[in-house]
Amino acid sequence: MGKVKITETILRDAHQSLIATRMKTEDMLPIAEKLDRVGFHSLEVWGGATFDSCLRFLNEDPWERLRVLRKAFKNTKLQMLLRGQNLLGYKHYADDVVEEFVKKSIENGIDIIRIFDALNDPRNIKTSIEATKKYGGHAQAAISYTTSPVHNNDYYIKLAVEMEKMGADSICIKDMSGILMPYEAEKLVRGLKKKISVPIQIHSHFTSGIANQTYMKAIEAGADIIDTAMSPLGMGTSQPATESMIASLQGSPYYPDIDMNLLLEITDYFSKLRDKYMKEGLLNPKVLNVDVRTLKYQVPGGMLSNLVSQLSSQGALDKFEEVLKEVPRVREDLGYPPLVTPMSQMVGTTAVFNVILGERYKMIPNEAKNYVKGLYGKTTVPVKEEIKKKIIGDEEVFTGRPADLLQPELGKLREEISEYIEQDEDVLSYALFPQVAVDFFKYRQAEKYKIDTNLVDEESKTYPI
Ligand code: CO
Repeated sequence: MGKVKITETILRDAHQSLIATRMKTEDMLPIAEKLDRVGFHSLEVWGGATFDSCLRFLNEDPWERLRVLRKAFKNTKLQMLLRGQNLLGYKHYADDVVEEFVKKSIENGIDIIRIFDALNDPRNIKTSIEATKKYGGHAQAAISYTTSPVHNNDYYIKLAVEMEKMGADSICIKDMSGILMPYEAEKLVRGLKKKISVPIQIHSHFTSGIANQTYMKAIEAGADIIDTAMSPLGMGTSQPATESMIASLQGSPYYPDIDMNLLLEITDYFSKLRDKYMKEGLLNPKVLNVDVRTLKYQVPGGMLSNLVSQLSSQGALDKFEEVLKEVPRVREDLGYPPLVTPMSQMVGTTAVFNVILGERYKMIPNEAKNYVKGLYGKTTVPVKEEIKKKIIGDEEVFTGRPADLLQPELGKLREEISEYIEQDEDVLSYALFPQVAVDFFKYRQAEKYKIDTNLVDEESKTYPI
């Protein structure tokens, strides 16, 4: 029992959850020096959807962002989120790409890599864990938390024990939907503490309005680290608010003793930024509400808004409730996958097809076919036999490690984009998002690209805004 540690997520998950990952590096730098002084355990700044968003929407090189942030944060560990063998993309990559990606992430400034697999298949996080350790990073293995008749504490504890054996330096319970209940969290953390010796971190979302209590019970049960977001971009579908969580622990042995005045100065900065995002229409007040539907349908906040946009583009928004009800049925048919990328998209699209076409599994997204074929890894429980037949007929299911089917890719990829390469990392951007990366490379060649590092004056430590 000791002081709880805090991972601040405002530079990654918070803006991914609330403003579609649109925070620019230029919006981060002016507050970097203050954030760096707080004494956070770590700052989550990279990975997840930030990589895609930099290239696709912000005309930024994600690698350059990482280097600039590394320079700005001299004292605080930088953390990223990685989807195991999927890296930051939506399919499995060959081991050589995974190893190179991890190596370059660490070289450019990442200290802690949180690694998860949507199916909790340990074979899909093995290469990234090994590479993280090989290149001197902290490998945090994350459990994708969900509930189902088979996802219980015994299942999670067994998984965590296996992750620790694989070399995980810490374990995260990753509750992307905000469905981990306070007393369940308490039991789970107690159970984990008995079986594993590495630190335990809790990551949840405020979506259903419950995460603050979940954090408190988890902390009392011995959780070492919690993920929070500074209040201007906290709560709603984001993390519990940093300032409130810290204040809640006053008078307890868990209180992290963080300078509240410094925190409030940071709050001021992000409040202004939030007003700007509101004005620009980036922040929809809807995502700030408590949405209890996630408790019933287990649909994470991001997936709810995706479903809405999918349905409205088909002119079928009136089918929303029906689709919401179809999601858990599809999930059951497919062996209860946790609804996290890429399974959330797969299950969501299948549910939309099932409802709109008026016949279940008449049309099936390619990804869902590959999932049933075993190409994403082992399902928690087998896909229902009649559903499997409907989706892939008599085709055989692959039971090995999916990445074993892939040949090394880096050499070929490098050749394909040789005319654009300005740094080793470019081949990785291209591996993950081929079209989007090439568009960015062209933009960069036209010399339109520059992050304004003048915002950070290293000598005088003064920051505009
Ligand atoms: Co999250």
